[in-house]
Amino acid sequence: MNPDTPLQLLGGLTAREFLRDYWQKKPLLVRQALPDFESPIDADELAGLALEEEVESRLVIENGERPWELRRGPFAEDEFSKLPERDWTLLVQAVDQFVPEVAELLEHFRFLPSWRVDDVMISFAAPGGGVGPHFDNYDVFLLQGHGKRNWKIGQMCDSESPLLQHADLRILAEFEETESWVLEPGDMLYLPPRLAHCGIAVNDCMTYSVGFRAPSASEVLTHFTDFLSQFLSDEERYTDADAQPVSDPHQIQHDALDRLKALLAEHMSDERLLLTWFGQFMTEPRYPELVVGPELEDGDLLDSLEQGAILIRNPSARLAWSEVDDDLLLFASGQSRLLPGKLRELLKMICAADALHIDNLGPWLADDEGRGLLCELVKQGSLGFADE
Ligand code: SIN
Ligand code: CO
Repeated sequence: MNPDTPLQLLGGLTAREFLRDYWQKKPLLVRQALPDFESPIDADELAGLALEEEVESRLVIENGERPWELRRGPFAEDEFSKLPERDWTLLVQAVDQFVPEVAELLEHFRFLPSWRVDDVMISFAAPGGGVGPHFDNYDVFLLQGHGKRNWKIGQMCDSESPLLQHADLRILAEFEETESWVLEPGDMLYLPPRLAHCGIAVNDCMTYSVGFRAPSASEVLTHFTDFLSQFLSDEERYTDADAQPVSDPHQIQHDALDRLKALLAEHMSDERLLLTWFGQFMTEPRYPELVVGPELEDGDLLDSLEQGAILIRNPSARLAWSEVDDDLLLFASGQSRLLPGKLRELLKMICAADALHIDNLGPWLADDEGRGLLCELVKQGSLGFADE
């Protein structure tokens, strides 16, 4: 993708301009970002998903049994027919993992790293419905799928911003509106992290939220140090072979801090381990139970492909790759594999994983490592056969 091509999705901005001026900085409203957009699923199909055990869904009812009542799915079918006429929202998470046409929407966002994408959440709101003024810690593109929604934006927030007393929802106690727009199907609003926002359905409406993810500093530190500690032996400790006589035995001298800083720096600056951890962490699936594969021998895979089978990425799997010196690292759903540089094009194909078949895989199937890798990924559940 050429970063200097104007994109309709970004209102004629290029990816480079959008990243420079808006991404993580300020909101952008784009009228007809996806012209003539028609939601690939309707309200009934969305409600159908919310009945399923493996699907994460929520109902927010403004004047329910208590103000801003939150109910969590899976729901029983008759629950929807008992809802009030107005002022409620059904939210279904990660619809991209269950509806391929929704996953296809993500193709429009390929100017951003795929490992930054969290999911496509879809909400259906009855007139007046919304989840209250709030902020998210993530970037989000709000695409109007059906009906009209009035989006208001407000102040920048943080963890000190006052919230309403609510056990489950983080609703802002104060909302200082700065701008508002009514979005129609195909219109899109990009919001940077922590910007207060509030969407109210004008009529029955569906909103697609393409949400991004970024680990918090606290997550990076706890998870990376956990990962690192597997490689450290008990003998590796604070040492002070250079110790000098102390004047006050109860004082912690600053030379102790210098030794600690050196210990931390030695381990924290191992780039290969940092990359391995990061790739594994960022490709951990949202629903690991949906990433499982069959028992399979190299030969079986080859037979299936020869008979016309097509391999695609399991929609619940996450894939990414990187390079270390002359080698490559493939990250697949929380696991990493060090691979020889000659497999670069295969890795790129696997990560894009539109469709892998005998014609485009051809030469890679003759390579032991290439074939072995494909087989491993099928067994792990990151790749699967298209007709399964
Ligand atoms: C919604 O679609 O109702 C909520 C989306 C959001 O505000 O993040
Ligand atoms: Co939000």
